[in-house]
Amino acid sequence: MPVATEFFDTAEVALNAGDQSWGNLGLWQDEDSYSDACRGLALALGIEAGLDAESHVFDAGFGCGDQLLLWLEHFHVATLQGVNLSETQTRRALDLLKRHGHHKHCETLRQGDIHNSAHWPAPGAPRPNRVLCLDGAYHFPGRASFLAQAGRSLAPGGVLCVTDFVLPESFQGGLRSLPLHAMLRGSRIPRDNLVTTARYREQLFEAGFDQVAIRDLSESVMLGFSAWWARYHRRASHLPARSRLKYAVTARFLGWAYHKTVLRYVLISARRN
Ligand SMILES: C[S@@+](CC[C@H](N)C(=O)[O-])C[C@H]1O[C@@H](n2cnc3c(N)ncnc32)[C@H](O)[C@@H]1O
Repeated sequence: MPVATEFFDTAEVALNAGDQSWGNLGLWQDEDSYSDACRGLALALGIEAGLDAESHVFDAGFGCGDQLLLWLEHFHVATLQGVNLSETQTRRALDLLKRHGHHKHCETLRQGDIHNSAHWPAPGAPRPNRVLCLDGAYHFPGRASFLAQAGRSLAPGGVLCVTDFVLPESFQGGLRSLPLHAMLRGSRIPRDNLVTTARYREQLFEAGFDQVAIRDLSESVMLGFSAWWARYHRRASHLPARSRLKYAVTARFLGWAYHKTVLRYVLISARRN
């Protein structure tokens, strides 16, 4: 019988220390380990979102669940809901939460597509006051419709917080951006998801948000990942050749896109009005 494979899988587990299984680009400040940098990006998102014991979180694309533990055990959030496309990751996330005694939260975490409204709170059900997306929104089949769904689901005054790629205002396209288009295809990123920060703001306003704040993390994320792989790849012989190639191409692309001002990586927060 053929083995089912998924685009979003558990390959990044091999980059992690201990029993961590993060799978984002990381926030590289003084961090030297992949797990620490990924956790750092999650911490930045949680702090920006103002997570605390009053937070009712909906997490879009929660990976293998390390971030769910962070929301619960570091920020002590009150409730958790979420949806994640990857079946293998979602199983791992639920196992992780159960091993840490968080059985009750598993009932509201689902495998599925963010664009299926059945995975969001039904009309009349308690609404989240935080919608989070850590390094996943650029992959969603339509980011604008994700923003619209988040706007419909959040309680008034609630906060949407995402880390994401945007195009710089100076982006011109043309031949210079050919590597970008190749990367988008290979990484399953719909072209329409890449918009300038000005257009992103408009999409947020159209979805019912105000008080938009956008912080540029490009250097610490894009150059950080690129520089980490340059240091780490010699110690990566335990990884399958396919993974080594993927990280090498990603690292090279991110360094190029940063220096040529083709892409920017940002932390965005906005308030549901
Ligand atoms: C780059 S990974 C980031 C994973 C995790 N947030 C982390 O930081 O380790 C992108 C995540 O988005 C999820 N994802 C992609 N498309 C999705 C969709 N249409 N609906 C729900 N989740 C999706 C994937 O399953 C994956 O977990």
